[in-house]
Amino acid sequence: MRHAAFTGTGFYVPERVVTNDELAGMMDTSDAWIRERSGIRERRWIEPGQTNAELAANAARMALAEAGVEPADVDLVVLATLSSDNFFPGNGVLLERDLEMGHVAALDVRNQCTGFVYGIATASAYIKSGQADTVLVVGTEIQSPGLDLSDRGRDMSVLFGDGAGAAVLQAADTGGDVLASSLHSQGRFNDVLWCEMPCSHIPGRIDASHIAEGRHHPRMNGRLVFKHAVRRFCEAIKEVLDKGGVTKDDVALFIPHQANLRITEAVAQRFELAPEQVYSNIQKYGNTTAASIPIALAEAVREGRLQRGDLLVLVAFGSGFTWGANLIRW
Ligand code: ACO
Repeated sequence: MRHAAFTGTGFYVPERVVTNDELAGMMDTSDAWIRERSGIRERRWIEPGQTNAELAANAARMALAEAGVEPADVDLVVLATLSSDNFFPGNGVLLERDLEMGHVAALDVRNQCTGFVYGIATASAYIKSGQADTVLVVGTEIQSPGLDLSDRGRDMSVLFGDGAGAAVLQAADTGGDVLASSLHSQGRFNDVLWCEMPCSHIPGRIDASHIAEGRHHPRMNGRLVFKHAVRRFCEAIKEVLDKGGVTKDDVALFIPHQANLRITEAVAQRFELAPEQVYSNIQKYGNTTAASIPIALAEAVREGRLQRGDLLVLVAFGSGFTWGANLIRW
């Protein structure tokens, strides 16, 4: 069986830092509340004029450069985002345009916070089945323009940030590999964490009354999300460990979707993970949805937290609900 090896990672975050205190000037919240409930100290927001496509291209260029791969030599782009620049087309084609990728196959993944995990599973399947030699997987998100910055939306808007991360996977005979993946969904919770509008089946897709009611902003039932997230993170981790025939002690690093530091801590506690086994950077970037895992992965690599041969687990839960994990030999 061919291996699907990671050969490059990259990330990009906008320069604008938004602190908790700055948010407290916009809505009824406080640095103490945000830190205590989520662990977040600051996040990055785009400047006016910056696009999702720009963030994705910057992250992708870094990953391709590290892999030593020319954009035109990529066989497949898998791009995960819930914030494409336009209603359609998805942003995968914009990456083809901006990196001049020579009419490459471009697949958009709509699995929100779980998008990158689905993307890695897809890239691995294409490589192992011989349908692609080189796959670029990108998670990219611009949440800030869609947030409800009034008191009504404060539970959501203090959590999210903007950014992009990317990874290059290539066919190999030996060495690194995606050993196992586990992917799930449960659509009956679709409206527990969602952005309802614009809505394709409504004439005009959105009207002034929807906007007045704030139905074009993301909404969630935070307590229910928390409960399901901890349970599904744990299940997904156990599934990939079992599929790979390894234990949690064999894993050098777990990179969970950076949803909320309290969720990560609850999962780490259930598995009795050592602090050095778990990567967190939500303090700096907030929750960047599909981008959070690839940003964390690229940072972990640059901080020397992963050595070739190590076992790595990526795990995510998010809107849908969707959840899943990848077990990777680095
Ligand atoms: N600042 C100050 N007060 C706030 C804020 C805020 N930003 N947001 C809500 N509050 C208030 C509420 O109005 C409520 O006030 P009340 O008691 O007067 O009614 C009080 O704080 C407590 O609200 P709860 O919703 O009960 O707070 P909770 O302890 O559940 O924490 C939180 C809220 C942080 C959202 C929590 O439910 C959570 O972490 N949920 C998980 C959701 C999550 O992480 N989502 C990320 C996206 S999903 C994903 O990526 C998997």
